Amino acid sequence: MLIALGVTGGIGAYKAVEVVRGLQKRGHDVVAVMTRSARRFVGEVTFEAITRRRVITSQFAPGANADIEHIALASDIGLLVVAPATANVIGKFANGIADDFLSSLYLATRAPVLIAPAMNTNMLEHPAVRANLQTLASRGVRFVDPGEGFLACGWIGKGRLAEPEEVVEAADRLVRPVGTLLGRRLLISAGPTYEDIDPVRYVGNRSSGRMGYAIAAEAARRGAEVVLVSGPTTLDAPAGVRIERVRSAAEMARAMSTHARTVDAIVMAAAVADYTPERPHDTKIAKRDAPMDLTLVRTPDILADLGRARGNAPLPILVGFAAETGDPRARAREKLRAKHLDLIVANDVSRPGAGFETNTNAAFLISPDDEVETPVQLKTELAATILDRLERLLAAHSARV
Ligand code: C5P
Repeated sequence: MLIALGVTGGIGAYKAVEVVRGLQKRGHDVVAVMTRSARRFVGEVTFEAITRRRVITSQFAPGANADIEHIALASDIGLLVVAPATANVIGKFANGIADDFLSSLYLATRAPVLIAPAMNTNMLEHPAVRANLQTLASRGVRFVDPGEGFLACGWIGKGRLAEPEEVVEAADRLVRPVGTLLGRRLLISAGPTYEDIDPVRYVGNRSSGRMGYAIAAEAARRGAEVVLVSGPTTLDAPAGVRIERVRSAAEMARAMSTHARTVDAIVMAAAVADYTPERPHDTKIAKRDAPMDLTLVRTPDILADLGRARGNAPLPILVGFAAETGDPRARAREKLRAKHLDLIVANDVSRPGAGFETNTNAAFLISPDDEVETPVQLKTELAATILDRLERLLAAHSARV
């Protein structure tokens, strides 16, 4: 889910960096929106590096107006979080003043809004601020400490910004679907594999792991018990997911077959190497002037082996991926059949906004009797779409037994 994090000019602005990290760990994509005074406390470069997105600092930045950015972003986000929120921004929100990007975004979005106020105690207790908070609460805005309890019990907070983890937890709770996968066990693979040539070099591929990690994070949020077998990536383990890190296709095959017997579904999102060096060298191969031959041999097809091992049993449900260049449908249907899969997620990795090293993806979800095309969307959203399908497959199976 794409979450906008508004950062305003309070001393707690530095804690907003931790809020971004926490939201990312739970599988969300974050875009930071900073007010002018926030930038006096923390540099926008910090947020840019950590969100891996341009930080929005002004309504009038060149490039921000081609599609009226606050309107475009307003419809893209699933949640607006403001942490820390100063008395000033709370006053603007309450009174419909839209004199900068963040306050305009608040008016333009239909997404839920979560505010973590932070200010001096006297300011917080001032009747003007209390009235503004009351107004926002009556419109359905949610608060993190000390706002959450103020309607029922009067204002008792001191004004310190809540701890980042509390903000993250409250945000996640607002967007998390209910535990639709409670009691289910899922095995998910992600990332590339590295096939060693010698102790220094390897054969790899451009998979970032983001698609598989997004599926694992979403499945955990829905209550599933998740084992994530991950090839080498730079990503943190999603919250609530048991991660097993592997390097080569052979190691991934071993890890997958160990867990496969006890799970309800397997989602094979890893980009497993198809070939591996026949004989990796123990020592670094010295450079010579002559061309070098490298003999590669086939790796085990993990998914096909899992399909064979399952035989005619209905579980585990098997979901594969097919990354192709060009229209992927015909080859994906062939793989669906050959590997005995229940569902295959096929994409054209040569398409802009799809495939490796991007935050977005577009795909065809193909099952033996159905084919659905998804639009270009965030990988976190495609993860939710894939899991919706998987839930239906699991439900159909439960109905049969
Ligand atoms: O045949 P192809 O590699 O395109 O099939 C893609 C699907 O098969 C993916 O789900 C991938 O994770 C899986 N795969 C595998 N073992 C391999 C190669 C691919 O499980 N050696």
